[in-house]
Amino acid sequence: MADPTNNPRSAQGHANRLDWFLKARFGMFIHWGLYALLGQGEWAMNRQRIPLDEYLPLADQFKAENYRPREWAKLARQAGMKYMVLTSKHHEGFCLWDSKICKFNAVNSAAKRDLLAEYVEAVRAEGLKVGLYYSLGDWRHPDWFAGWQGDDAARERFMDWTHDIVRELMSNYGQIDILWYDLPQNYTPMQWRSVELNAMVRQLQPQILINNRAYTTEDFATPEQHLTAIPVNRPWEICMTLNDNWGYCPADLNYKTPREVALTLATASAGGGNLLLNVGPDGTGRIPEESQKILQSVGQWLKRNAQAVYPGPRFTISFNQWGPTTIDGFNMYLHLKTYQNKITIGGLIPQVRRASILSTGQELTIQRRPTQTILTGLPERSPDEVLTVIHLELDGPPDQDIGRIIGGADFFPVLPA
Ligand code: GLC
Repeated sequence: MADPTNNPRSAQGHANRLDWFLKARFGMFIHWGLYALLGQGEWAMNRQRIPLDEYLPLADQFKAENYRPREWAKLARQAGMKYMVLTSKHHEGFCLWDSKICKFNAVNSAAKRDLLAEYVEAVRAEGLKVGLYYSLGDWRHPDWFAGWQGDDAARERFMDWTHDIVRELMSNYGQIDILWYDLPQNYTPMQWRSVELNAMVRQLQPQILINNRAYTTEDFATPEQHLTAIPVNRPWEICMTLNDNWGYCPADLNYKTPREVALTLATASAGGGNLLLNVGPDGTGRIPEESQKILQSVGQWLKRNAQAVYPGPRFTISFNQWGPTTIDGFNMYLHLKTYQNKITIGGLIPQVRRASILSTGQELTIQRRPTQTILTGLPERSPDEVLTVIHLELDGPPDQDIGRIIGGADFFPVLPA
């Protein structure tokens, strides 16, 4: 009899398939294509209405001379990331792989090789999970445009073409861990035949996780650029840029600091989600220096504070006047967005057995009053240069008595009338 746990369609199989993702917390998104040569983000072709006869020849300049995916993957691993998602084809329509279906591809560019194959191999070699972004929309494809202008025959051709090219992508590169669709706009799920498309993908890739951007729910939700950690009853991943652009844009120096990235990561973790953080390599394939530095610094921070970020799925509680709080078993981690050298926690129910600064191990003094737990002995200034995390070891599961804070009788004495 077949073991149902190995069947990704069974409930247990579904849980097994998602297991790594629910613990991953941090991944690298990579936007790389011909647009990188222009250095004005990945929407340049559309926003600047660049004529096709000017845009397509960019492929002749795309040499990928500094493309070393093993270095990308090393950087991701050292940053504490567990998976990578590369734009195999963005809206411009250029395919990074050796496609037999679309001639506008890397083998026919100045690079003259299958760049996707090198990526997949490099990501696996660094022990990370392999994700492929695929844009359903295609600015270059005449049928994509004609189809939604009302030409039914063009639309049907485009849909057949889409199913064929996704089949190709899912067939030739071994196990793919994530398929990350984008730009389903302009057609309906019925027109995409999304259910059929994904059934085919799952046939070819039984372990794959599929995002929700082909208009079907699938495995995980994809909030973009904004984050509110609310407990939702399904896996999610927030995607975010490191500066303000997805594609390479050297003029955009509005980078997030390592501290902002750490806080976003902690907030995602507190809500049981992942952060897919983007880099935009230049036209030669190099990840900008500034992005590398930020990721290295976040990676160092994660080494010091790993246990506060990586634990399995769980939801936060509302002890967050200082910043995000993550919990794991009988442990609580306070990520001090607002650094304080005296911390007062209202209404904590379990007793604190031990309190310490996670990255230095320094123990703190604990005082207990009926409604308050007070931690003192913290250094004057934040001891972790990126973000200080306090580790509380409790004698029971983290819980908070809200009643004691908002109106408990021992806190707000009832005054005689
Ligand atoms: C936005 C951008 C698109 C990018 C995507 C990533 O929708 O317009 O270019 O690929 O975000 O989620």
